[in-house]
Amino acid sequence: MTNVDAILASGLTALDAVTDLVELEQVKARFLGKSGELTGLLKQLGTLAPEERKSTGAIINQAKQAFEASHNARRDAINAQKLEQQLAAEALDVTLPGRGTSAGGLHPVTLTLERISALFASMGFAVADGPEIEDDFHNFQALNMPADHPARAMQDTFYVEGGDVLRTHTSPIQVRHMLTHGAPVKIIAPGRVYRVDSDATHSPMFHQMEGLWVEEGVSLADLKGVMTDFLRRFFERDDLQVRFRPSFFPFTEPSAEIDVLGDRGWLEVGGCGMVHPNVLQNVNIDPERYTGFAFGIGLDRFAMLRYGVNDLRLFFENDLNFLKQFN
Ligand code: DAH
Repeated sequence: MTNVDAILASGLTALDAVTDLVELEQVKARFLGKSGELTGLLKQLGTLAPEERKSTGAIINQAKQAFEASHNARRDAINAQKLEQQLAAEALDVTLPGRGTSAGGLHPVTLTLERISALFASMGFAVADGPEIEDDFHNFQALNMPADHPARAMQDTFYVEGGDVLRTHTSPIQVRHMLTHGAPVKIIAPGRVYRVDSDATHSPMFHQMEGLWVEEGVSLADLKGVMTDFLRRFFERDDLQVRFRPSFFPFTEPSAEIDVLGDRGWLEVGGCGMVHPNVLQNVNIDPERYTGFAFGIGLDRFAMLRYGVNDLRLFFENDLNFLKQFN
């Protein structure tokens, strides 16, 4: 029993040397565990004479309490140090200015579409849409392009398994709309279209807008009037020169390309024509009673012209520094 002081001294030294909680518990076990050094002394009490037991027991208990007190102090110190380190590591400088959030904005093509839609809405056109995966009938046949029609080669088509296609233009929407609504119809139909093509002015996916007005008495004069009015309002120039250049589309007769006169000469902005009688027949509308015009314009092209963007691919790369300019 003479070595109580020595054991306590070595216990306190061990506690002092401890640097983390795991080690701390190991040292505690070494002295106060089931076979710990101080516990061992208590176990030996039974071998002492009864009169010695009480005083020796008191001495050992004092040593035990001293060890525990030192253990607790060490534990508190380690915890305090840990907290200190954590606070230092996670320190926030609350005096720094905030980063703020920047507001998002609409894509330039969306802005252009909204502008064009509003102009046509003011002339009485409703908005229609249709599927991006089309069947041969709606994308080609009903538009007066039978299976062996050479005009099919003009459009480099993406085919889908089973013979369907990614629509090559928004014209199939006119077919769908006339089949479900009959005549009269007066719609615009914007949407994504797909062609095997890619460079600064062509993208495999791009945006078109179809227009269609079929009603008794609609004439080529209406086509020219509506398109000229639309273009002058879109480009905000009352004196904008618009030219209808004879062309060919299977689904219109006569057909024309629409050009506007810009700073660097004539610029093509779309195709149009009087709806071909075969197309009306294909959608069960009587071509003897109804006439109409259709047009197709490239929305990306209009966005490029309006915002002075010279590379179509910028619209699809979604570089925030580019897009931010339109907020
Ligand atoms: N569908 C044609 C294309 O994608 C565009 C077009 C031209 C649509 C003339 C029309 C039209 O409705 O009348 O190239």
